[in-house]
Amino acid sequence: MDSISQYRDMFVTELKAKTQYSEPKNLYEPVSYILDLGGKRLRPVLTLMTADIFGGKAKEAMDAALAVEMFHNFSLVHDDIMDDAPLRRGKTTVHEKWDVNTGILSGDAMLILAYQFFESYPTETYKKLTALFSKTAIEVCEGQQYDVDFETRDDVTIPEYIKMIEYKTSVLVAAAMEMGAIVAGASEPDCKAIYEFGRNLGIAFQLQDDFLDAFGDPKTFGKQVGGDILENKKTFLYLKSLEQGTKEDQESLLHLYSIQPEEGSTKVETVKAIFEESGAVEATQSAIEAYTQKAFEVLDGLQLSDAKKNLLRAFGENLMRRTV
Ligand code: IPE
Ligand code: IPE
Ligand code: MG
Ligand code: MG
Ligand code: MG
Repeated sequence: MDSISQYRDMFVTELKAKTQYSEPKNLYEPVSYILDLGGKRLRPVLTLMTADIFGGKAKEAMDAALAVEMFHNFSLVHDDIMDDAPLRRGKTTVHEKWDVNTGILSGDAMLILAYQFFESYPTETYKKLTALFSKTAIEVCEGQQYDVDFETRDDVTIPEYIKMIEYKTSVLVAAAMEMGAIVAGASEPDCKAIYEFGRNLGIAFQLQDDFLDAFGDPKTFGKQVGGDILENKKTFLYLKSLEQGTKEDQESLLHLYSIQPEEGSTKVETVKAIFEESGAVEATQSAIEAYTQKAFEVLDGLQLSDAKKNLLRAFGENLMRRTV
């Protein structure tokens, strides 16, 4: 199998079959709701594809792929509470459709359900998968805490920001890939290399997520455009604008990110104009390309056929060009 849409279809069929829950309704309906909203299914596709690439069977990596997607969706439910986000995948977020307590508990249940998917693996594989998963999950928590801490700091540096997105986002992309390699029985160096590929790709992915949060098309993006600006998120766009902008831009940004905007405020438009005129937009695009290239460089050291490397490259290039 080699096309991304085939992996996605195979995954979605299995997801539907293995995530049928009933009572209590108020616990499980939000779980089905968020899972049915879809999304790109990027991480499970990577798990399945990586298993194939290292000579295993995609089907055998299915439970790991399910665990990864379940965990990802759990993290989104809690993230939307933390970010006060009204929209997810074009629909009302769980905590707005139900309430915050429902979002917390359904999210907790999803984290447990994610772990349960690993129970089908033989002991040695189970140990490796759950050790990687737990390490990743705690790093995601650390990244999410930095993200929140940065909202109220005005001295965040770019290296701090990169570390934050590495933890909140890219380690899960990396682990999704390494899990596919583990299931396929790949060597330790191959597991580490594919993790490194995923880590760099994941950083590029979050940079693009930040860009789209400000400049995505509200009709298709599926999340509230400008949400990061309203929440005072210290994104690459913001940090680069502070670094490269005029004195006036810097003062304006520092001020806008330190006050509570009033009803009908033009904060989002003003900030986006600064992001554009300061050259931060170009700097973000270059950083996305640079991290994608870093990922591709890892491939040079891997003993894989050109066809397999090209599949991974095509995946990375598509991510860079995405609009959702
Ligand atoms: C959103 O992830 C959260 C981030 C880490 C940026 P995705 O953009 O993969 O979300 P879905 O699953 O496709 O909706
Ligand atoms: C989310 O980062 C990372 C996790 C969910 C762990 P964001 O807050 O940028 O994700 P979106 O933009 O809401 O999808
Ligand atoms: Mg968010
Ligand atoms: Mg967030
Ligand atoms: Mg975002």
